[in-house]
Amino acid sequence: MKKWNLNSWKNYPAKHLPKYDDVKELDMVLGKIKKYPPLVFAGESRSLKKSLAEVVEGKAFLLQGGDCAESFAEFNPDNIRDTFKAILQMSLVLTHSASLPVVKVGRIAGQFSKPRSSPTEKKDGKELPSYLGDNINGMDFTEKARIPDAKRLFRAYSQSASTLNLIRAFSQGGFADLRQVHLWNLGFINKKTKGKYKEIEDKISDALSFMEACGINPENNRRLRTVNFYTSHEALLLPFEEAMTRIDSTTGEYHDTSAHFVWIGDRTRQPDGAHIEFCRGIKNPLGLKCGPTLKPDELIKLCNILNPENEPGRLTLISRFGANNVEKYLPKLIKTIKKEGLKVIWSCDPMHGNTIKAASGLKTRPFDNVLKEVKNVFGIHQSEGSYAGGLHVEMTGQDVTECTGGAQKISEKELSNRYRTHCDPRLNASQALELAFLISDEIKKNSTYSKNIIQAAS
Ligand code: PEP
Ligand code: CO
Repeated sequence: MKKWNLNSWKNYPAKHLPKYDDVKELDMVLGKIKKYPPLVFAGESRSLKKSLAEVVEGKAFLLQGGDCAESFAEFNPDNIRDTFKAILQMSLVLTHSASLPVVKVGRIAGQFSKPRSSPTEKKDGKELPSYLGDNINGMDFTEKARIPDAKRLFRAYSQSASTLNLIRAFSQGGFADLRQVHLWNLGFINKKTKGKYKEIEDKISDALSFMEACGINPENNRRLRTVNFYTSHEALLLPFEEAMTRIDSTTGEYHDTSAHFVWIGDRTRQPDGAHIEFCRGIKNPLGLKCGPTLKPDELIKLCNILNPENEPGRLTLISRFGANNVEKYLPKLIKTIKKEGLKVIWSCDPMHGNTIKAASGLKTRPFDNVLKEVKNVFGIHQSEGSYAGGLHVEMTGQDVTECTGGAQKISEKELSNRYRTHCDPRLNASQALELAFLISDEIKKNSTYSKNIIQAAS
């Protein structure tokens, strides 16, 4: 294998990268960003990798969620707080019902760039370059807005930094205290889901009182009043990721300090492509999206490039086939991974294979199909003797109407009421929490099963 360096990716074909007209300006911007402080510390990514290694062993579950695309327009403290709350609520449900620790990773504080299915977009007879994410160009349907503007990277960096700052404050400063679970509740969640959540709140309250009587409380036990919350995004915009990659002074290794975890999208995972080349050289935990066109031999090749040491926690495979395609594609991949003895997390993204266009033209995802994909994936892992260790969802803490169905029974007609996403439709907090309840039984079945397999094997 050829030697890796920070810009060796430039020697390989790169898909989905924007073309900047003003290259000088891009170099000026990247030069400045290279000198900015890292957003995360390499030691944090290492801790995440350790926790992910627990997931590989079936001793924990990975929950990854957040916006499809963060935007400058939706940037405000309430949105950050509510997404954070919704992820905590989901993880509480999963921890409680499946009796497993949940590793929490947000698609947040840097999830801006998007690969698009078409390079152009047509509206009322006019054709313009597609919107590529707020750190590249603007969403307005005008020629000017769609020109890639390198200076947008400054704003994206600054938004990521302050988002992360607030998340760190929430995680460590008392907001995540287990005694506050009732405050994590979001107003618009439907009655039935709220009722089930209340039951968990009550049980936690009882457990805390019991522990308090035994002398363990949030004051003397950090773990009861703080959470570890990690950030992630797709490593798509390589010039930016390169600028954020630094040598960790404690180990001499390269870490992409733009997030704890980065993933490679389904459209940019060519084994001889620039995105794989860049990611193989950084030490962060990595995700790899696995869609219908991924063949088993190609998957093995990718695993060997990205994780040559077969280090547990380094690689998360995120399957996204569509509810009705899981059976066709997933078993072969699982079998190959098992046969090769590769230590990976299998996470399920039930969003990206289930996008449809509503009659109005808006993109949506029927909640039932999201749920069906999760059930199919868990079922297949169970019958293959493999552990379904994670869930990867596009969601928000806001009361948006972007995915149809769920207990709120959002109809196609209602989609336009609060359709705010800058790219793909997200589950709202009510749907996300409902999903957490519906799949916690699946995890329970699956994790008990995998524990039995692990025990039988050891
Ligand atoms: C995404 O996660 O937003 C995305 C583009 O996914 P995929 O690469 O799986 O299509
Ligand atoms: Co998306």
